[in-house]
Amino acid sequence: MKVKEIYSQSFKHAIMAKVMLTLSFMFLFFVNCSGVNKVNSDDVKKETNNETGNKALVVYFSMPETNNPNNMTTDEANSTVVIDGKVLGNTQYVALLIQENTGADIFRLEPKIPYPTDHSTLVDLVKKERTENARPELAKSVDNLEQYDIIFLGYPNWWGDMPMIIYSFLDNYDLSGKIIIPFNTHGGSGFSNTISTIAKLQPNAKVEKNGFTVSRNSVDKAKNDVIDWLRSLKIVE
Ligand SMILES: Cc1cc2nc3c(=O)[nH]c(=O)nc-3n(C[C@H](O)[C@H](O)[C@H](O)COP(=O)(O)O)c2cc1C
Repeated sequence: MKVKEIYSQSFKHAIMAKVMLTLSFMFLFFVNCSGVNKVNSDDVKKETNNETGNKALVVYFSMPETNNPNNMTTDEANSTVVIDGKVLGNTQYVALLIQENTGADIFRLEPKIPYPTDHSTLVDLVKKERTENARPELAKSVDNLEQYDIIFLGYPNWWGDMPMIIYSFLDNYDLSGKIIIPFNTHGGSGFSNTISTIAKLQPNAKVEKNGFTVSRNSVDKAKNDVIDWLRSLKIVE
């Protein structure tokens, strides 16, 4: 290539660079003046009602074995809590408390083929699912999961582990870059090793070790503990 050509090319490049620079300044000026795409962090806080300003979703599974508050069997009473005359699953109640106090959205995981409410049939099915390392299909998919920064993930302790439907959820969705905050209810086993299992299944998420766990025997009195826990995580004031 001749010197003149090289010179004229670098001249052209210099002109192009100037044009690009001017256009960038004009763009920045326009965005600043018009207010387009400006997000006020206070607005985000108002919308989410939590201190972090992050958008949160409560995802949970819960298996109340009846919806009749009267004459419950012991197994039915073990899997439910009655609040204002309404029967809720234990984990469902904690999920609702988290939603109420954080303004998070909420999504209930349900299997495509509903689980039986009869206790011993349920126990047999759950055993089979575990032996087969099954991934029960979800009845509905979680839409727009990418918009959430925090996922509260709730489940009952089943055989010292998470119900297999939680594995289905963790297999189906990539929670990389999100904060996962576990909560659970149980009959004595607490979380077992489920928090580290979640961390293994979602290695690129930040999994909060200080999850919320409550016995089914005291879930009806859990409200203040849930609020204190959310405060300790600096999610609410
Ligand atoms: C199939 C099955 C297995 C369970 N295994 C355990 C267990 O290993 N350890 C424990 O503490 N509780 C166990 N439980 C008790 C539940 O964790 C407890 O009742 C929980 O609060 C139910 O929550 P839910 O109403 O949201 O489904 C089991 C319950 C069922 C139905």
